[in-house]
Amino acid sequence: MSPTEPRRLTGIRELQCWADAERAARRRIALVPTMGALHEGHLALVHAAGAWADRVVVSVFVNPTQFGPDEDFERYPRDLERDCELLGEAGADLVFAPTVDEIYPPGDVTRVEVQRLSRGLCGASRPGHFLGVTTVVARLLLAAKPHVAVFGMKDYQQLAVIRRMERDLHFGVEIVGVPIVREPDGIAMSSRNTYLSPVERRQARALYAGLCEARARFESGERRAGALIEAVRLRVGKEPLAEIDYIELCATDDLEPVESVEGQALLALAVRFGETRLIDNLILEEG
Ligand code: PAF
Repeated sequence: MSPTEPRRLTGIRELQCWADAERAARRRIALVPTMGALHEGHLALVHAAGAWADRVVVSVFVNPTQFGPDEDFERYPRDLERDCELLGEAGADLVFAPTVDEIYPPGDVTRVEVQRLSRGLCGASRPGHFLGVTTVVARLLLAAKPHVAVFGMKDYQQLAVIRRMERDLHFGVEIVGVPIVREPDGIAMSSRNTYLSPVERRQARALYAGLCEARARFESGERRAGALIEAVRLRVGKEPLAEIDYIELCATDDLEPVESVEGQALLALAVRFGETRLIDNLILEEG
């Protein structure tokens, strides 16, 4: 263990005791939930968390309940040692790396569901995904007792669903969204980018390129959903390996589809390259 490595805990009770002591000492706690395989995008969340709190806890847990039966739970990249090193360098104070049985004790039957917002966009092609996300995030919030929890805006629907869960269940935790971190060629950072072959990786640039074309049209006055979506579709459609899952324009709070941008709207898409499904988005904002 390098001298900068954060303390590691695996038990919920231990984490709660630690959090109680920090709170008693009037220190603010920020939680950054992750599934590990960390990249610059995660480290940006840790840095943002440091600006909001005195102590930063990062959870590293590949959550089985948010993966469908044919999804990549088994092959999801895992490297806790490297993650802890990176987190030490990024200034995290504590890494919470529980086992599956710690989070889901044998016999567990409790789930937390946010209806409606979980249904469209990624929820339509990943049934049960957000049920798994909200269930684990609720448990992590109860374990780490943070004042603030920080999430990336690449998973915009996840952020909106968690915000609604927090609001509806009165967790008393501030939910903070951090802007997408991109590779130099525009691809949004994601642990799943490592699954792409070199040719898929090249074609995957079309997601952000398509969003940028839509933004250029928006900036020259286009407001209609159909035209903005078509700009993305045309660009992504040029890539032979890209299979579009969805491209949608929707409200930034309840994620309901909108006919045009009034004030602001979320332009979001999901595209498959073989087995790998990538997502990206942009907020279009007037003024
Ligand atoms: O965004 C992720 O990595 C996961 O969905 C989260 C929030 C850590 C829950 O497992």
